[in-house]
Amino acid sequence: MSNELKPAVILPSYLEQSQAVKDRFTRLKDREVILEVKNLNKVYKTAKGEVIALKNVNFKTHRREFVCVIGPSGCGKSTLIRILAGLESHTSGDVLLDNKPVTGPGRDRGMVFQGYTLFPWRTVKKNVMFGLEMNGITGEEASREADLWLELVGLEKFANAYPHELSGGMKQRVAIARALVNQPRILLMDEPFGALDAQSRAKMQAHLLEIWRNIDITILFITHDLDEAIFLADRILVLKAHPGEVQELIEVPVSRPRGVMQTTSPEFLATKARLEALIHPPESEPTHEDAVKPKMIRFVNVKDNVE
Ligand SMILES: Nc1ncnc2c1ncn2[C@@H]1O[C@H](COP(=O)(O)OP(=O)(O)OP(=O)(O)O)[C@@H](O)[C@H]1O
Ligand SMILES: [Mg+2]
Repeated sequence: MSNELKPAVILPSYLEQSQAVKDRFTRLKDREVILEVKNLNKVYKTAKGEVIALKNVNFKTHRREFVCVIGPSGCGKSTLIRILAGLESHTSGDVLLDNKPVTGPGRDRGMVFQGYTLFPWRTVKKNVMFGLEMNGITGEEASREADLWLELVGLEKFANAYPHELSGGMKQRVAIARALVNQPRILLMDEPFGALDAQSRAKMQAHLLEIWRNIDITILFITHDLDEAIFLADRILVLKAHPGEVQELIEVPVSRPRGVMQTTSPEFLATKARLEALIHPPESEPTHEDAVKPKMIRFVNVKDNVE
């Protein structure tokens, strides 16, 4: 074997796009704007003072676009998605869905959270029908609609099962069906696969892309996971913490359809390097989390070091 050092892999710039990717972005930007966030600010007033959770956030999402939001813990990702869902008020700025201000929750937005939020006493199908019932659709019509969406997420055989009989991935598929059954304009997902093991997570990512490809839905997806964001997104909104500001809106230069092959492509690695640099800059200041890092105490009285 030669002792020669291998040259470092030279990655292309994450700003470089193939013609096919450029064309896809041109088509994307030609589509109408579904969601517009303008000068959005959110300040929480707490007993200890004010927390600026979001500062002057601006972005637009086009119809059938897949946007991921990424950023360190506490940078305001959940706050942002809860404001978009109408579950949280904002301090100033505008959130427009189809050019209309968001003033509260509505059936034009579907939500999927990280935790399993299914009703344990309802069957899978009854869980999916819940969203319809809330909007006054019941009986045969609700049953037909629920069947359709269960088929789309591949769970028609589990219609009569109860949530405790399902795996974590299957539960999240039911949650997706329940969110989509009202045919929202946008699907808002807050770390929906965060509790899944790596293998189920990869399957769910591929499954979500399949659903997205086949229906008219715009997706805003929050994640901590850089690979997940690159694998799924058209564009990635990178936030920074304290206060939660937009650092960059990255156009992912990876071609579609996406598969395992792309995850080692130069474009994928270049995008990951850029995200790493934004999220974990080498000279970064100690974070709030670093400050509360527990001291490691040795509980064993063994002299030899395992490393
Ligand atoms: N109800 C609240 N009252 C006061 N402060 C809050 C409230 N909710 C969130 N915050 C603060 O706002 C900031 C943003 O919180 P948020 O939960 O949106 O972050 P996040 O990016 O979703 O974090 P994580 O990645 O850990 O889920 C944090 O500093 C948090 O402590
Ligand atoms: Mg969060």
